[in-house]
Amino acid sequence: MLIAQTISEVNFYLQKQENHKIALVPTMGALHQGHISLIKRANSECDRIIVSIFVNPLQFAPTEDLEQYPRQLETDYQRCETLGVDLVFAPTSDVMGITGDTATQSLTTTVIPPVSMTSRLCGKYRPGHFQGVATIVTKLLNIIRPDRAYFGQKDAQQLAIIRRLVSDLNLPVEIVGCPIIRESSGLALSSRNQYLTPREKTQAITIYRSLKQAAIAFYQGEKQAHILTGIVQEKLATVSEIKTQYVELVDTKTLQPLETVENTGLLAVAVYLGNTRLIDNIILRQPIVAIDGPAGAGKSTVTRRVAEQLGLLYLDTGAMYRAVTWLVMNSGINLNDRDAVSDLVRGVKIDLIPSKSPELPIAVYVNGQEVTTAIRTPEVTANVSTIAAQSAVREELVAIQQSYGETGGIIAEGRDIGTNVFPDAELKIFLTASVAERAKRRMLDLQNQGYKDIDLVQLETEIQQRDEKDSTRAIAPLKQADDAIELITDNLTIEEVINKIVQLYCHLRNE
Ligand code: PAJ
Repeated sequence: MLIAQTISEVNFYLQKQENHKIALVPTMGALHQGHISLIKRANSECDRIIVSIFVNPLQFAPTEDLEQYPRQLETDYQRCETLGVDLVFAPTSDVMGITGDTATQSLTTTVIPPVSMTSRLCGKYRPGHFQGVATIVTKLLNIIRPDRAYFGQKDAQQLAIIRRLVSDLNLPVEIVGCPIIRESSGLALSSRNQYLTPREKTQAITIYRSLKQAAIAFYQGEKQAHILTGIVQEKLATVSEIKTQYVELVDTKTLQPLETVENTGLLAVAVYLGNTRLIDNIILRQPIVAIDGPAGAGKSTVTRRVAEQLGLLYLDTGAMYRAVTWLVMNSGINLNDRDAVSDLVRGVKIDLIPSKSPELPIAVYVNGQEVTTAIRTPEVTANVSTIAAQSAVREELVAIQQSYGETGGIIAEGRDIGTNVFPDAELKIFLTASVAERAKRRMLDLQNQGYKDIDLVQLETEIQQRDEKDSTRAIAPLKQADDAIELITDNLTIEEVINKIVQLYCHLRNE
């Protein structure tokens, strides 16, 4: 791992990285599991990982904790090294062109995000903070020029502002938002948790509990913002040491206040516990259920049935890949011409619309044309894997799947749905069965289709090999998410499996 303190060192490093996908994870150091989750995500999606560590004076008001902010560069370097980071950029204020003196600073350019986004939530209490963040992030993006930059949903206002900034200024970078990492108590990890006494740390658990309580009310049908924020206020008030700064319910993208939550909303809080300011938030939306697991564990049947039973939209990712395959086959371009396929799928529109037909309960449209049955032909089946293996196709489809996830109320299955597509799914199930069990089920399937003399040992070997291949793939490997519930289905009937998932879902909505 390299450590760069100057911009010319960064440039020297970048010169040798042509054709590599570069990730930037901007931080202020004192790295904890929250930061680490960003670095791991970056590592799973990009070839070169750059972490910046800079405690940015521009985002601290004179009354804030700039001087006390935890600094532990050596430990941070070691963490980064073990995580496979390629370069840490740890500049001084001088290198970043920040003087720390307001008079001189006022002579340099400042990036000013829309006032509508900075005048509420934290921005209201931290004037100038988001200008400081926007300015430093713009500079970091220009210095590193990453393909992707990773930010945590923990700082939801920061993330929304950065997305807006990148879009408004046409910065050529993809912003990736990552879910909040919490302690098992529910307390969101933060560098500032270090300031808390053990007693305050226990009291701080109420913050997330208050948000969860509002989320449960929302699941049960409550849509009015003042009632949902009222639930949070009331719960926070049960701990007299907690001084609430704000509880707001806003649009997740524009951050404008909501009166009612139609599909989704951001419920955010800031409190003081002693002298420590803590923030947390939750996105209100109908839950996303993500089902991952090895081939042959019954994912697709189970997912379809659970969708029916819970009234969720079954996000048939397989049908999406089929639809794109159909589109490519009908366009006349060569299936292996990656550039042409990439051009064709950019901006493709795929709609999954629940239908009344029991055989094909979801109608599939590609660019407005219905293809529900056309995508089920043996020709399409034979070509899906060629198309699905192309990264441009995957990226486009993952983006479409994630846009379905924004409003929630969906269930999806796959190899990496819970780890990669919906890392913030409310319920993740890792559906699995032993190799022996899966071989036995496959044998029964084959016998039902009329095959005889099936070699069970051979089937077991094939399944084992497939597992091995699936979990070591470069793109979208099979991996159990840390927060997934493992469901081993050996000795369970399909009804029992479905019931278990339905129960877990109901528990989630009522706990
Ligand atoms: P910092 O507070 O160090 O956070 C760096 C990144 O880690 C941010 O994107 C933040 O949202 C994310 N993060 C922090 N705690 C997290 C948690 N519990 N779960 C998930 N992600 C978490 O945010 C900043 O630094 C600065 O404002 C910066 C963007 C670096 C600009 O100076």
